Amino acid sequence: MAEMKSMGVVGGGQMGSGIAQLGAVHGLDVWLIDSDPLALSRASKSISSSIQRLVSKAQLSQAAGTSALGRLQCTTNLEELCSADVIIEAIVESEDVKKKLFLELDKIAKSSAILASNTSSISITRLASVTSRPHQVIGMHFMNPPPIMKLVEIVRGADTLDETFNATKALAERFGKTVICSQDYSGFIVNRILMPMINEAFFTLYTGVATKEDIDTGMKLGTNHPMGPLQLADFIGLDVCLSIMKVLHAGLGDSKYAPCPLLVQYVDAGRLGRKRGIGVYDYR
Ligand code: CAA
Ligand code: NAD
Repeated sequence: MAEMKSMGVVGGGQMGSGIAQLGAVHGLDVWLIDSDPLALSRASKSISSSIQRLVSKAQLSQAAGTSALGRLQCTTNLEELCSADVIIEAIVESEDVKKKLFLELDKIAKSSAILASNTSSISITRLASVTSRPHQVIGMHFMNPPPIMKLVEIVRGADTLDETFNATKALAERFGKTVICSQDYSGFIVNRILMPMINEAFFTLYTGVATKEDIDTGMKLGTNHPMGPLQLADFIGLDVCLSIMKVLHAGLGDSKYAPCPLLVQYVDAGRLGRKRGIGVYDYR
């Protein structure tokens, strides 16, 4: 497959904005789509400030930063994606909502386009099944924050072709990422291992074993993680963590994946983490 020239990203939240930034910085024409215009204006600001941080640390020249911003268009109109070589979906972690979007993308995208999902846990095979091109559907799972984290986990659905895999891997490598490859089972590699740890941190808090600060300090200093598991949950978004635990629980069928009631309660209360100003910790 020829080198990709243009990319669509659907969902302009923390992940979609970072993925759009990577595309623009690495020379692609990028459309960033969100159904919420406010999300798009937040995304524009966060991309500009992230690029500024990279420029101030001499990891990107001012000229490259400016031309990257010139290659990025933000819009609510999905139809703009009709000429994109690849479209990466980064909307809410819900199978039903993602399936609806894949159905629409399949109609809008040109026939050669790859449809990728940044899903944290949901079956790529099932997302692909609503399209007429399951061989061109793939999981391209970036880590948060996408401009900084070095990994992309690629997930092959049951029908994903080698050609699709190779083109997706080449794109991730163009972004400077190391690629790992997972079969299509709930949570793939990273979240199969990470989320039960985060869920267990909630149980540790819920059952009164220790304070949130001691749980986080324990894992930061005791195991050299950059953030404690509760801080990381706030960073990821507690809604995202809960959705992933539900997918693991339903997909792997073991009660060890049952979401902690405290995690459920925080999400019910709208305590979604840093993005809402309050989660396990209060950032206001
Ligand atoms: N854009 C540009 N630069 C950024 C940035 C961004 N969005 N975010 C952080 N940085 C840079 C900072 O400028 C800083 O650079 P220098 O060290 O050169 O000064 C560096 O990254 C560190 O940032 P900070 O000093 O602000 O803060 P920090 O030291 O706490 O690092 C962090 C922030 C990189 C996020 C670090 O805390 C970390 O690695 N945390 C763990 C993140 C992690 O585990 N992510 C994966 C989550 S799981 C996932 O993503 C999968 C899923 O499906 C849920
Ligand atoms: P987020 O809540 O920050 O952003 C989601 C965005 O999608 C919102 O701006 C919302 O307005 C938009 N959206 C929702 N439905 C839409 C639709 N039908 N059309 C267009 N836009 C729509 O979420 P996020 O944390 O960026 O996560 C996005 C995806 O990436 C999820 O699948 C998540 O599991 C995955 N992911 C998240 C992380 C993380 O650390 N947060 C890491 C890796 C992967």
